Amino acid sequence: MNRFTVDLNGLILNNPVTVASGTFGFGREFSEFYDLSRLGAISVKGLTLEERLGNPSPRIIETKQGLINSVGLQNPGVEYFIKHEIPFLREFDTKIIANINGDNIDDYGKMAQRLSYEDVDSLEVNISCPNVKNGGMLFGTDPDIAYQVVKRVLENTDKHVIVKLTPNVTDIKVIAKAVEEAGANAISLVNTFSGMKIDIHSQKPVLDRKIGGLSGPAIKPLALKFVYDVYSAVKIPIIGMGGISNSEDAIEFILAGASAIAVGTYNFVNPLVAVEIYDGIEKYMTDRGIATIKELIGLANYKKY
Ligand SMILES: Cc1cc2nc3c(=O)[nH]c(=O)nc-3n(C[C@H](O)[C@H](O)[C@H](O)COP(=O)(O)O)c2cc1C
Repeated sequence: MNRFTVDLNGLILNNPVTVASGTFGFGREFSEFYDLSRLGAISVKGLTLEERLGNPSPRIIETKQGLINSVGLQNPGVEYFIKHEIPFLREFDTKIIANINGDNIDDYGKMAQRLSYEDVDSLEVNISCPNVKNGGMLFGTDPDIAYQVVKRVLENTDKHVIVKLTPNVTDIKVIAKAVEEAGANAISLVNTFSGMKIDIHSQKPVLDRKIGGLSGPAIKPLALKFVYDVYSAVKIPIIGMGGISNSEDAIEFILAGASAIAVGTYNFVNPLVAVEIYDGIEKYMTDRGIATIKELIGLANYKKY
């Protein structure tokens, strides 16, 4: 235990700085920039039972202050991950979060079962992917289905379970409460916001699937409010994300109620951003004489008053 240790309801991180699924691959490219042991956790690219090639291109668009992506869960499949990526990630003193996905509730159960006896520290149940035809975000917008998916996962594993929520809902608190009631250990949010771009010359949507998910600094104020709202609604810990690009952003999320934060799109802009955020949080705490990171969690949230 040190002053940066955080406990996500059974998952202990050395520090609260993690990286978001789909923006860090399996860590290999980033390991050339820094020692991955400096991260509290790595959430790997979204995994499915079988390998997937993802959606046809174009599938990523740059916008002012962000990206719209419709990658569509391109990944080598869970078996490849177990055989080739877990051993690599285990070389580092960081927690491995397996981001799991499915077309239907059975798939989520099978993914949970398959990873149950493998060397991962947590399962992040992605019920918020906007870029797939079946499952994904549809599950995260209905509290009953969200509840059922989480129940099915928990019936098939004793692992720590995080549920990743979509912001594309009317009331996030209802969904957050449903997954807490189903037994989730923690919540991560937000996934991307539905968005699109139209080419004024061809007069057609640019992305092959027409809509995608907006991420990056553009969404930070919106994501922050989602974390703030969820913190007031549930007791389980939150991993906050959405547009974080520096330590000030990260501290805002912690003050809103996040026990840990994840850096996503900004990894593409500055591959060192996660470690710079760690250093910035440390300086902020030292400058203010704050002994442990835990003292900061939710400090700005009305739940505290
Ligand atoms: C290219 C790309 C791929 C992503 N793939 C996944 C994924 O496989 N699983 C998942 O749960 N989230 C995925 N996300 C969402 C991110 O993990 C994160 O929730 C979102 O981008 C908001 O954080 P950010 O603004 O810091 O990027 C992806 C995001 C991007 C930009």
